[in-house]
Amino acid sequence: MKVDVLLGLQWGDEGKGKIVDVLTPDYDLIARFQGGPNAGHTLEFDGQKYVLNTIPSGIFNPKTLNLIGNGVVIDPIILKRELDNLKKNGFDPVKEGKLVLARRAHLILPTHQLLDAASESNMGTKKIGSTLKGIGPTYMDKTGRNGIRVGDTTLPDFKERYQKLVDKHKSILSHYGEIPDFSEKEAAFFEAIAFIKTIPHVDSEQLVNNYLKEGKKVLAEGAQGTLLDIDFGSYPFVTSSNTTTAGACTGLGVAPKNIGDVIGIFKAYCTRVGGGPFPTELHDETGETLRQVGHEFGATTGRARRTGWIDLPALKYAIMLNGVTELVMTKADVLNDFAEIKVCTHYIQNGEKVDLMPYDIITHEAKPVYETVKGWQEDICHIKAESEIPQALKDYIAYLEKHLEVPIKYLSVGPDRLQTLVLN
Ligand code: GDP
Ligand code: IMO
Ligand code: MG
Repeated sequence: MKVDVLLGLQWGDEGKGKIVDVLTPDYDLIARFQGGPNAGHTLEFDGQKYVLNTIPSGIFNPKTLNLIGNGVVIDPIILKRELDNLKKNGFDPVKEGKLVLARRAHLILPTHQLLDAASESNMGTKKIGSTLKGIGPTYMDKTGRNGIRVGDTTLPDFKERYQKLVDKHKSILSHYGEIPDFSEKEAAFFEAIAFIKTIPHVDSEQLVNNYLKEGKKVLAEGAQGTLLDIDFGSYPFVTSSNTTTAGACTGLGVAPKNIGDVIGIFKAYCTRVGGGPFPTELHDETGETLRQVGHEFGATTGRARRTGWIDLPALKYAIMLNGVTELVMTKADVLNDFAEIKVCTHYIQNGEKVDLMPYDIITHEAKPVYETVKGWQEDICHIKAESEIPQALKDYIAYLEKHLEVPIKYLSVGPDRLQTLVLN
């Protein structure tokens, strides 16, 4: 058995939560491998909408175990709130034994969030547009070997460790100005720590590898998107983790040879939230239509997402980095009314044709070159079978597959779990 991976190929919000939920019945374990509550993964079924930040999107399946892996950074306050919300809706994964936490996962402290905010406000016009959840500072402490992990919460000197790190943060924060009062947040943090101690802590690397040995099926759920990867995204306008397939190896403790299918997910167009380059961005009425029809407002922060046409150089780059074996296209229904759809086939940069997203995209403008394809101009939200797909949409799919050289296996035509077609 191998671990399948599902991850975003654009700048996040491709619909990962929805598709993981759809695929979950085929899996015994769903495991988040990186990121933290900067993620907002939306699921809809039975007329209800749920947004998950830290909890894997397999949580609604009665039979599937969900793991928050070692590569994830956990804000205990947010995790507790997520679980409280689920409880209000009749789901209690802790009681049902459906959620486990990696001992090696790092904790986001209230002062990590203060550091995030201080760093952003100090950037002036060059803001990254962080979700301000403390992600960057927490990963900095992880790689700086100062971090506090889930497993540390059970140690007798946990409070001293916490205080030592907070003192360090305070000394950094004092350089930015007055330190805001965080006593309420601190009290909530310790209350949440007491709560997360009631969730089983596991060695995720052993759990996942034992599952594989026993012939059980594991799906790794990515957060953010490939173009926000710390190494390969448009640095510094990125997040602080490896959002690519490699991140699933380190974020769960899985050897590369044990990675199976890599399911890459993308929207039929493109969005980005936060700062940084976005070659196909639309600043016109079409962009506004995509935002309104696609409800392109952040699931975590409510911010308006930037919108634009689909970008093949970016997608090809993401497919290469991740070793994508099959594709999922979401939000095709958002294009229902479009007579024409533009596809960026390549860029022109420094007078030359560029086929993959380049390194110097920030310093040297990459001008998108488009081809135009025909829209289907009919409502596809209710179609249930491949045979009902309008010819123009079939042509769009075939066109994309030809350029991307990977089959599109699933087509999503609405936010609900049931609005998903398997393509043969
Ligand atoms: P994630 O972060 O990748 O899980 O994606 P988000 O949940 O942040 O954003 C995707 C949004 O699009 C959510 O509001 C979903 O409910 C919604 N969505 C997912 N798939 C589709 C689709 O095929 N059509 C439409 N119209 N909405 C979709
Ligand atoms: P999901 O999993 C979209 C963006 C932020 C910002 C940059 C850095 O829902 O797809 P951070 O908080 O990580 O320091 O922010 O990354 N970002 C996301 N954009 N979807 C996400 O997650 C994101 N998580 C972070 O907007 O530009
Ligand atoms: Mg999201």
